[in-house]
Amino acid sequence: MSGIKDTALKIAGKIYTKFGGVVQEKTERDKADKTVMPGVPALLRRAAAEGAVLLKNDGVLPLGEGSVVSLFGRVQFNWFYTGYGSGGDVNRPYQVNLIDGVRNCASLELNEELAGIYEKWCEKNVIYDSVWGMWPRFYPEMPVCASDIARAENKSDCAVVVIGRSSGEDRENVLEKGSYYLTDDERALLERVCTYFDKTVVVLNIGSIIDLSWLDEYNISAALIAWQGGMESGNAVCDILCGKVNPCGRLTDTVAVKYEDYPSSSCFGNADYNNYTEDIYVGYRYFETFEKEKVLFPFGYGIGYTEFDVSPSGCAADGDGFRFDVQVKNTGALEGKEVVQLYAEKPRGVLGNPERELVSFAKTGVIAPGESEKISLEASLYQLASYDDTGKTGFPYAYVIEKGEYNFYLGENVRSAEKIFTYYQEADACCEQLSQCCAPKESFDVITALESETRKLAIKRPCAANRTDLKSRILENLPKEHKLTGDKGYKLSDVKNGKITMGEFVSQLDTDELEAITRGDYTMGSPLGADGNAGVYAGVLKTLIDKGVPPVTATDGPSGIRLKASGMLIPIGTLLASSFDTELVCEVYSAVAREMKQKGSDVLLAPGMNIHRNVLCGRNFEYYSEDPYLTGKIGAAAVRGIQSEGGSACPKHFACNNQEYKRTVNDSRVSERALRQIYLKGFEICVKEAKPNNIMTSYNKVNGVWSYYNYDLCTSILRGEWGYNGCVMTDWWSKGAESPEFPKICNQAYRVRAQADVLMPGGSRSGKRKPDGTLLKTLGDDGGITLGELQRSAENVLRFAMNSTAFKE
Ligand code: BGC
Repeated sequence: MSGIKDTALKIAGKIYTKFGGVVQEKTERDKADKTVMPGVPALLRRAAAEGAVLLKNDGVLPLGEGSVVSLFGRVQFNWFYTGYGSGGDVNRPYQVNLIDGVRNCASLELNEELAGIYEKWCEKNVIYDSVWGMWPRFYPEMPVCASDIARAENKSDCAVVVIGRSSGEDRENVLEKGSYYLTDDERALLERVCTYFDKTVVVLNIGSIIDLSWLDEYNISAALIAWQGGMESGNAVCDILCGKVNPCGRLTDTVAVKYEDYPSSSCFGNADYNNYTEDIYVGYRYFETFEKEKVLFPFGYGIGYTEFDVSPSGCAADGDGFRFDVQVKNTGALEGKEVVQLYAEKPRGVLGNPERELVSFAKTGVIAPGESEKISLEASLYQLASYDDTGKTGFPYAYVIEKGEYNFYLGENVRSAEKIFTYYQEADACCEQLSQCCAPKESFDVITALESETRKLAIKRPCAANRTDLKSRILENLPKEHKLTGDKGYKLSDVKNGKITMGEFVSQLDTDELEAITRGDYTMGSPLGADGNAGVYAGVLKTLIDKGVPPVTATDGPSGIRLKASGMLIPIGTLLASSFDTELVCEVYSAVAREMKQKGSDVLLAPGMNIHRNVLCGRNFEYYSEDPYLTGKIGAAAVRGIQSEGGSACPKHFACNNQEYKRTVNDSRVSERALRQIYLKGFEICVKEAKPNNIMTSYNKVNGVWSYYNYDLCTSILRGEWGYNGCVMTDWWSKGAESPEFPKICNQAYRVRAQADVLMPGGSRSGKRKPDGTLLKTLGDDGGITLGELQRSAENVLRFAMNSTAFKE
């Protein structure tokens, strides 16, 4: 029986790589040129090490020169280098597992006998992991008997036990052994190893937070979250174990004592919809306000091999915000880097606010023992404002700075940061007047923190339901149309050179051309682009190409370029964010962008910027954090990196793609306040700071409307409020729907009206190679899509295409 299953898996593993239908022989990928750009291995090794988070250490780390290491756990061989699905499927030129990492490390020695046993066993017990959406969450362990462990102990100075977990697109983590919890075999292994060894280091090769309450149940000397570090993983982990790199990663999520403590645990994973009842109290915003004692490791936590003294040395305030000068002194014995974090505490006010919100952070360079570095942290007044979605403050639909005390806390993590400054706001002030957008259709109860005499209470408040008339908003803002002129022989380069306006260029496009611009080529792996691309858009018709509109090639994704060609596999998003180092993230993505030029990718479908709302989300590894500010800053750094080399970025998935289960139909119901302050905030920071050329919508609905039909998301907020003027594309394919406001329009017309400019890819999921006909069907009819709207989306796409690498070539 198991033979049949093995053969079936072998076959499946070979041919299915995406959506159960796209056939891609692995062998073709194997033939790709595996040359790596100079400098890349060192850069990726540094990045992978700098994002690793050391959770505990009784002094065993760094391991002494020449230490002999016994590695336990099969993941030492079958390392999880990244997660599964579009966010990890990179044809990497090579990969270094932990066994080879130790072998490569000049200061460590490997217990080869034990490693050899694991290698042989793993080679026999092969993993088949390529079936789309069926990714393994863990790999079954090799049984190790007590006598083997005793022999290993005799031969070595310490044990390193590796616990591995993975997840991926289209498949959630689950509250089961082998996913969120340890398996019985893993527990047995830990039990035995810790009995025989005095020094046991646990390395967590994971993509998102798992249960860690067991760390205190065994005699574990040190625990390191190595995450999934890309192709240089093994080398990077050894750099930390031997002390070549002093750990300087910090947690981007709170580690709770148990899953049920997370505020979203009661309203996550439903098939139809989830009410985001925890509202803005996501992650540490919840724990620091209501349940401090339920935290195992706080947000921002991470230790190293040295100590730092972080103290304020000055503060300046002007009309726009605050600047804090900080002195960071290495008071320990080893050189290292420190992450400095600044949090704000707003008054509870009438809106209710969490105890802490991250408002700034910085990472120092390497500081020698006894030496100091000065850094500056800035926070704006806008960051002190809260969004009033009900009008309680007297300023409905506005960011309001409520009167009262604003305290700033400086330190090494959210829990230990100390108060350094207080700002007093005399009266409520409107910081930015907006309008109600994308609010829930019906009110539901969410929690909030208001001050009582004795304690901060989690009380319930009804969030505001939608009151706007979307139909009038759309009609009042319909764009003017350009009169169709017919082909005048203009090229897109004429617009670029300032000879004609974009309007004049678009005027000469007929409706078939306009239709084609608002959808990609029909399939993934378009023949118009590099082999294995995710899709091609813009110049997808011969007549468009003749007019100088280039076919633009998009490739996944956050972990590197996903093509048949080989490409560097970079560390996962959560690891990159854990570095708290925006310059490093920018550098990594600049390297990816240089590779994009070589391999024929114009747009990288990255960064992944959804909030870690719940630890079980299968794509958390691609995303950064439970915190929107950190998400925004790291996302902006990634975009800067990609675009500084001429490539184009595509932050995704806009917005609220917080669970994978039923992701194409699920409705994320969230108050307008939480939407703006948590789920959109990262995108807002990224758009305003780094101006990405593209944005990808999400699969799910947001307050009842699929994000790609969501006018308020894609037009009112993204473009109207944030000034975005790039291209918006759908996530891969879309679901058909009628517009409730305009019953005549559906599907593609509904989408273009929202300014989700491009359907990617342009055919249907079932493989149809033609438009569904819904875009032009109502063109010009009363209540139908207007020519102006078609042209507006075409301009959005062309403006971007004109700045793409495809155009420059
Ligand atoms: C994913 C996107 C990805 C796209 C193209 C979708 O399934 O959700 O993140 O970029 O596929 O591969």
